[in-house]
Amino acid sequence: MTTITTTTTTTKISDLAATNNHGQDSSYFLGWEEYEKNPYHESDNPDGMIQMGLAENQLCFDLLESWLANNPEPASFTKNGKSVFRNLALFQDYHGLPEFKKAFVNYMSMLRGNKVTFDPKKLVLTAGATSANETLIFCLANPGEALLLPTPYYPGFDRDLKWRTGAEIVPIKCTSSNGYKITKSALEEAYNSAKRQGLKVKGVLVTNPSNPLGTTLSKEEITLLLTFVSNKNVHLISDEIYAGTVFNGSGFLSVMEVLMEKKWANNKDLVQSVHIVSSLSKDLGLPGFRVGAIYSNDPLVVSAATKMSSFGLVSAQTQHLLAGLLSDTKFMDYYIAQNQRRLQTRHSMLVSGLKKAGVNCLDSNSGLFCWVDLRHLLKSPTFESEIELWKEIVYEVKLNVSPGSSCHCSEPGWFRVCFANMSDDTLDLSMQRIKEFIDIKLNKNSHQSKRNSRRMRSLSKWVFRLSFDGDRVPEER
Ligand SMILES: Cc1ncc(COP(=O)(O)O)c(C=O)c1O
Repeated sequence: MTTITTTTTTTKISDLAATNNHGQDSSYFLGWEEYEKNPYHESDNPDGMIQMGLAENQLCFDLLESWLANNPEPASFTKNGKSVFRNLALFQDYHGLPEFKKAFVNYMSMLRGNKVTFDPKKLVLTAGATSANETLIFCLANPGEALLLPTPYYPGFDRDLKWRTGAEIVPIKCTSSNGYKITKSALEEAYNSAKRQGLKVKGVLVTNPSNPLGTTLSKEEITLLLTFVSNKNVHLISDEIYAGTVFNGSGFLSVMEVLMEKKWANNKDLVQSVHIVSSLSKDLGLPGFRVGAIYSNDPLVVSAATKMSSFGLVSAQTQHLLAGLLSDTKFMDYYIAQNQRRLQTRHSMLVSGLKKAGVNCLDSNSGLFCWVDLRHLLKSPTFESEIELWKEIVYEVKLNVSPGSSCHCSEPGWFRVCFANMSDDTLDLSMQRIKEFIDIKLNKNSHQSKRNSRRMRSLSKWVFRLSFDGDRVPEER
């Protein structure tokens, strides 16, 4: 126990509880706090802040609600007309309900076009992907060992991968110059950087599709990653919780699909070093239900993670309900297609709305957000200017967006803007606000730059005269 002294009180809490490694004080979470103080509401608070910093999917609740209305059994503790209340109330097996795990792996296959099948015995249920990621790191890395992560990455990883496990994150620096693609040199540079810091590298963690970019990994990138982890004898974790948000049909390739190719499939060590993380928080829009999973080919990881899952089980009631939903494959087929269609429409609305304001986004095909380029609005290409601009957008425009620096982006001026957690009208309003802000800002800048260039012109005349004319007039002194 350590005594922590603050300015107002003295508390006795553990070092771990007192550390700031959770990253909760980053601008990503601070924006949420600001939103809570003044949330937008169409009629009650039309000037309030619009939440565009939250990767929530609210586009298909009507489908889920109508399924629930037509299928009352799963939500009412019954099965085939009989009560299952007592079984569920007592159920606490950390292996999970077999019918739910079966339905879950089938759903994972559906999202990958049924090109890969998953074995329920290799699946460990967890309370969301947050818990899945932390549990995996507990299983794979000792405190002080490192994971390499391509930047920009999901801000929550600082909390999920590092805080309680004591593991470290070393960035693989990706940039806009090639659309943030992972390259061999960036991977090697990150590996060497870890070594220079005296950190043993235990693995690479990617999100595919990416949060915050909304892009999917190409076959070349996955091949590069598999080659890299195989050569270095480290793990590869692929967080695929956005798999169901890919809206351009065949744009998503899971690492598990690539791993089936003969070239890799016979390499048992490699196959056992690849793990994926899944969740129902994004595609089904159910983050409140806390359902996630680890899928691993390594029996030791599955066994250790299963024991650790005691700290974050999914309630039996939730498993029962979702077993009913996910095993209705006809409905799920329809849901997946509708969800993708609606996400695509929303994505287009945001991209074209921003275009009208002269703003470009990174080309993307997935996710609940766009990666927006506001570099032209920065006073200077620095992270200080990025935060200055972010504050203007939050406090003046009243839009909570996430600055790239909160995602550890290595270039200032990029922002993540979410589009699936609000109505069409609210998205329209947010676009009007941003356009107005940018028009005024660029106008002001151009007046300012006209004034500056007039000043510069007279200044250079003065310098010119100073250099060539010894007889200066008095008012120029
Ligand atoms: C890449 C990524 N992984 C994990 C999580 C956590 O998801 P969950 O709600 O399932 O814990 C998020 C949430 O935004 C995320 O974006």
